[in-house]
Amino acid sequence: MATLGVNIDHVATVRQARQTNEPDPVWAAALAQLGGADCITVHLREDRRHIQDRDLRVLKDTVTVKLNLECAVVPEMIDIACALQPEQVCLVPERREEVTTEGGLNVVDNESRIKQAVEQLQTAGIRVSLFIDATADQINSSVAAGADAIEIHTGPYANATGVNCEKELSKIVLATQHGKKAELEVHAGHGLTYNNVQPIASIAGIDELNIGHSIVSRSIFCGLQNAVREMKDILLRCSS
Ligand code: PXP
Repeated sequence: MATLGVNIDHVATVRQARQTNEPDPVWAAALAQLGGADCITVHLREDRRHIQDRDLRVLKDTVTVKLNLECAVVPEMIDIACALQPEQVCLVPERREEVTTEGGLNVVDNESRIKQAVEQLQTAGIRVSLFIDATADQINSSVAAGADAIEIHTGPYANATGVNCEKELSKIVLATQHGKKAELEVHAGHGLTYNNVQPIASIAGIDELNIGHSIVSRSIFCGLQNAVREMKDILLRCSS
């Protein structure tokens, strides 16, 4: 069964809208864990638009499941990650003007820079995942860069309709098989919702799903613990 990583960035987005101290993503992490989250995921962006450095420190002290830090491949973030020592870092591309992470990391064109970051993180005892598009060349370069895991970008699948949705799903299935053959851990995420997650969670070999916006959105109406539990129940049904 795919484990569930709950991305709590958008709890911090609401807090930052007023630049105050509530809602606290640290509370969100506690409730997500009570709801069955296997992993808490946060993205420290260079512009600090949602998660703050203080959040990382308190989450590191309080989260009892896996802590997954998403960050850009820049020296400031790699140094912060090495000092924090979460169980896992997921390297992502980042553009300041984007609303959310857009494409996957271009490992093919930046292999040596990424390999260096991967080595620095692994030397600090951190597992490294690379957020990539579902293509063979990105997977091959991720292997060459020494990644422990890949996170397949499910955005194109989530945004597709009709026959294109099937095509995008097939790419993710192939990428998962390719990743497994290369002995990588295979994760997936971005744009997954209660309505579209089932085909992805049913793919043999997917180890972890990272889901944020949809769970935090639903939590406004039913509470975070319930929203996480609902998603976890879907993943459980997909594995049986
Ligand atoms: N995985 C990665 C690498 C991401 O950057 C994001 C968005 O922050 C997610 C998963 C979660 O995406 P969503 O919020 O659409 O569920």
